Amino acid sequence: MERRKKGSNSTVVVGLDVGTTKICAIVGEITGGGIDILAVSAYPSNGLKKGVVIDIEATAHSIRKAIAGVSEDTGLEITEVYVGIAGSHIKSFNSSGAVGIKGREVTHEDVERAIDSASAVYIPLDREILHVLPTEFILDGQDGIKDPVGMAGVRLEVKVYIVTGAVTSVQNLLKCCERAGLEVIDIVLQPLASSHAVLTPYEREMGIVLVDIGGGTTDIALYRDEWLRHTAVLGIGGNHFTNDVSIGLKLPFPEAERVKKKYGSVLPSGTAEDDGRAEVDVVAIDGQVRGIPRKYITEILHPRGEELLDLVKQEVRAIQQSGIAVSGVVLTGGASLLSGFDRMAEAILGLPVRIGYPDRSPRTPAGNGYSLSRTEMQQVNGLKSEYNSPMYATAIGLVLYGAESVDPVEEKFLSSDLFNRIVNTMTGWFKKIVSSKQ
Ligand SMILES: Nc1ncnc2c1ncn2[C@@H]1O[C@H](COP(=O)(O)OP(=O)(O)OP(=O)(O)O)[C@@H](O)[C@H]1O
Ligand SMILES: [Mg+2]
Repeated sequence: MERRKKGSNSTVVVGLDVGTTKICAIVGEITGGGIDILAVSAYPSNGLKKGVVIDIEATAHSIRKAIAGVSEDTGLEITEVYVGIAGSHIKSFNSSGAVGIKGREVTHEDVERAIDSASAVYIPLDREILHVLPTEFILDGQDGIKDPVGMAGVRLEVKVYIVTGAVTSVQNLLKCCERAGLEVIDIVLQPLASSHAVLTPYEREMGIVLVDIGGGTTDIALYRDEWLRHTAVLGIGGNHFTNDVSIGLKLPFPEAERVKKKYGSVLPSGTAEDDGRAEVDVVAIDGQVRGIPRKYITEILHPRGEELLDLVKQEVRAIQQSGIAVSGVVLTGGASLLSGFDRMAEAILGLPVRIGYPDRSPRTPAGNGYSLSRTEMQQVNGLKSEYNSPMYATAIGLVLYGAESVDPVEEKFLSSDLFNRIVNTMTGWFKKIVSSKQ
């Protein structure tokens, strides 16, 4: 099945986050002042496992419901979406390429040719390229160049990070959207989308590990010098914490979910009034209400939190050992809201940690140590506070990503830098070539 694979020129952009626990559609309108969020709709998801579609009809049903919600709220007929993809089938690698410039000024076409040559690598038939992301340009041996356009040189080299997905997983996601009556403009790696919502350009520059803890998986993405450099998927998410509570306290899953969110913490409480001995009411499988000491819940959640953070630490160590400095960690995704998780992460990872909210205006809890300025970022306006949650970072990020892909001829209002736009255009252009070869 086809997807359009090029920047839209509409001023309305729809992000569709197909997650393990919920499917979320967000409609944004590009305005002179950034992006106005027109509508948000989320519907429970039952057709995914660990971030990957395993039941097309169930997923299509949830997509239809989420899209119907935003259609109703905006009065718009939604036919095109930017959709996120994740899961352990995602594999990425580095590549490089070079082209001759003959001593004149580098043009956008030269950049395209260089990226094209870096992308000309063997890809197994069962894999599909999702993104070709430049990480560095080198002009006549001068490295570390971010935007070579306009510079004079003889030989332009580019290093790229190529993100691929399993063809079957990509096709299944596209099928779900098609069954829901939607055309997919582009498929976007979820942590790439989330970064647009929660990281500042400064953070992307200085070396930040973004950890998106969803329901089924935890996606890790490293940003350094503005670009995505590394991704990994860990097979633990919020559902594992809920399962532990369900099994440990013999509670039905929905009740375990409620108890986890309401009373759960990965850290024992230090306050005198609540030393964990206070009892909380839970409803058992037989419908009976029982009182249990709150510390039981912590005792269940703490080791799972430690296990997850130890895995994150291994990834961070591997990144550091490859010579890339990491300055901090931003946690996002619904499960990052588990009480005490950010403090535990700081202690285990030995790095500053904050929780990434999509809207970082002053009313948002600030976390620690980072500039929360949206300077140079697309301003997100009109996001209701109930949706200003790490759970919605991917869906809002998809809208922002889509807005940056708006046809540059039409575009006159975005604050994203020229180079971002070149790369978005490039990525679409490259994908067009790949699809025409298939
Ligand atoms: N306040 C909270 N405290 C603890 N956990 C929470 C809270 N709110 C949401 N969660 C957990 O967040 C998880 C869902 O997060 P999210 O919506 O980001 O996942 P998803 O996008 O559906 O899944 P995935 O990204 O893994 O495909 C659930 O496990 C839920 O229990
Ligand atoms: Mg998610």
